[in-house]
Formats: sequence, C-alpha cells, structure tokens
Amino acid sequence: MAATATTIAPSLASEPTLNLFENQVITNMKIVARATTILVAIALFPLTAAAEGDVQAGKELGYTCLGCHGIEGYRNAYPSYRVPKLGGQKAGYLEIALRGYRDGTRPHPTMQAQASSLSDQEIADVAAYLASLANDKVAAGGTTGASFEKAAACAACHGANGISLNAVWPTLAGQHEDYLETALNQYRNGKRTDPVMTAQAALVAEEDVALLARYFAGLEGLETTRPE
Ligand code: HEC
Ligand code: HEC
Repeated sequence: MAATATTIAPSLASEPTLNLFENQVITNMKIVARATTILVAIALFPLTAAAEGDVQAGKELGYTCLGCHGIEGYRNAYPSYRVPKLGGQKAGYLEIALRGYRDGTRPHPTMQAQASSLSDQEIADVAAYLASLANDKVAAGGTTGASFEKAAACAACHGANGISLNAVWPTLAGQHEDYLETALNQYRNGKRTDPVMTAQAALVAEEDVALLARYFAGLEGLETTRPE
C-alpha cells in the first residue's frame, strides 16, 4: 500500500501535456496521495519497526503466562481486579504493553517481573502467538449489538463493536469489566502514561467510567485462553 501511494505523485508530475483543469485534478490527487502516504506511514510505523513474531516460538514462551492469564476469573490481589484476557488481543498492542512493563513505563510489579527478561524478539513471538488465538467473534470483528451513546467517541480507535481497528490499539470487547475500569482510571490518574489514551480518558466523566467498562465487557469478543 505504502509503495503504491508513494509512486503515484512522481509519475503524474512527469506528465508533460496538461491543461489547466487536469493540472488542478492532478494537484488534488497529489495532495491525497501525499496524505495517504503519511497516514499509511503512521499506521505502519510501529509494525515495521517491530520484529516479526514467530507463533510457534511464542507458544512455548507463552505457556507460563497462561498460569495467570489462562485461568477463568483469576484475580490480581491488591487492588482486586481480574487478570486481563489476552487471547485474540491485537499483536502490536501486546508488544507495546509488554515493552512498557519491561522498560518500567507501565506500572505493575508482577508483570514487570514477567516481562523483565524478554527480548524484543521474544515479545514479538509471544504477542504473535496470543494474537493468533482469536476466537471467531474477534476474528470476524464482533457482532453488532446494543449501542451505547457514550461509547461513540471510543469507536474511532476501538471499533464500533469494541474490536480495535488497528493492530496497535487494544480490543476492548469481552475484556473483564473490573480490569477495564482499573485501566481507564490509571489513564485518568496518570499511572498509565500513553499520551493518546490519556487524552481520551481525560474527556470521560467520572460517573461514565464504570458504565463504559460495563458496556465493553458485555460485548462479544475476547475470551480467557486456556493452556492446551
Ligand atoms: C502471576 C500472574 C501473571 C503472570 C504469570 C503473567 N501475567 Fe500478564 N498480567 C497479570 C496481571 C495482574 C496483569 C494486569 C496488570 C496491570 O494492571 O497493568 C497483566 C497484564 C498483562 C498484559 C497487559 C494486557 C492489557 O490488556 O493491557 C499483557 C500483554 C500481559 N500481562 C502478558 C503476559 C505475558 C506475555 C506473560 C508471560 C510471559 C504474562 N503476562 C504472565 C498477571 C500475570
Ligand atoms: C484516538 C484513539 C483512541 C480513542 C478515541 C480511544 N482510545 Fe482507548 N486506547 C487507545 C490506545 C492507543 C490505547 C493503548 C494505550 C497504551 O499503550 O497504554 C488505548 C487503551 C485503552 C484501554 C486499556 C485496554 C487494556 O487492555 O489495557 C481502555 C480500557 C480504553 N482504551 C478505553 C477507551 C474508552 C472507554 C474510550 C472512549 C471514551 C477510548 N478508549 C477511546 C486509543 C484510543
């Protein structure tokens, strides 16, 4: 995609016999092509910068992770909230989260310890494996169900059905309600520092945090992944 977008402008620019009208059209097309190139570049940057994940290697690495993430209803102790579901989560987002724990930009002592010894390649492998466990609903983009007016602002990134539109943004559909609520509050109180989501969370009214968490948790999507 990026290659096609970048080649359009130069080949049109070299066209010698243009009248005024065509010239305007071409200029517009060049602007569109350039904008598309930028958008594609932004969308692909975190992916191209990351190592290619190996699902099989990730499966071996991921086995111990399911000791917590693969147990239905398993809880974090203080504060008490359920361990997030990872199966079918977006690979790019899993990588960002794991690098965040490893590098200390994302808080949580247990997960920091889990991620501390992982190389970038191992993180890519385990992310590829976990993402490959998408159930039918996640793979198909979820189902259309009840809509919630207050979640409309979230759809641009997290998708109309809570299934994220981009590999680097997390899927929220079906995630545990108490985990989603904890995460949203962490963006609001500065414990999580991602600038994009921090800006979004700041716009959410206090009384809507729990409602949004309940709404996304109730959508069909992520499921607890059990070890095979
Ligand atoms: C001892 C239990 C435990 C083990 C083992 C464990 N985790 Fe976690 N994990 C957690 C908890 C609790 C959280 C929520 C942390 C938080 O609130 O940020 C979490 C969060 C995560 C997240 C963030 C999910 C999201 O939606 O943002 C990822 C990714 C993750 N773990 C991957 C792994 C991987 C990969 C392994 C194995 C290498 C692993 N975990 C092992 C308990 C565990
Ligand atoms: C402009 C894009 C964008 C919009 C709009 C957006 N988010 Fe996010 N959201 C993100 C990104 C990027 C992350 C991952 C940030 C990180 O790495 O910590 C995220 C993370 C989250 C998480 C943490 C998920 C997890 O597994 O830990 C929750 C919960 C969340 N968003 C809820 C919402 C809600 C609710 C709304 C609407 C009020 C919303 N977001 C709007 C981009 C967006």
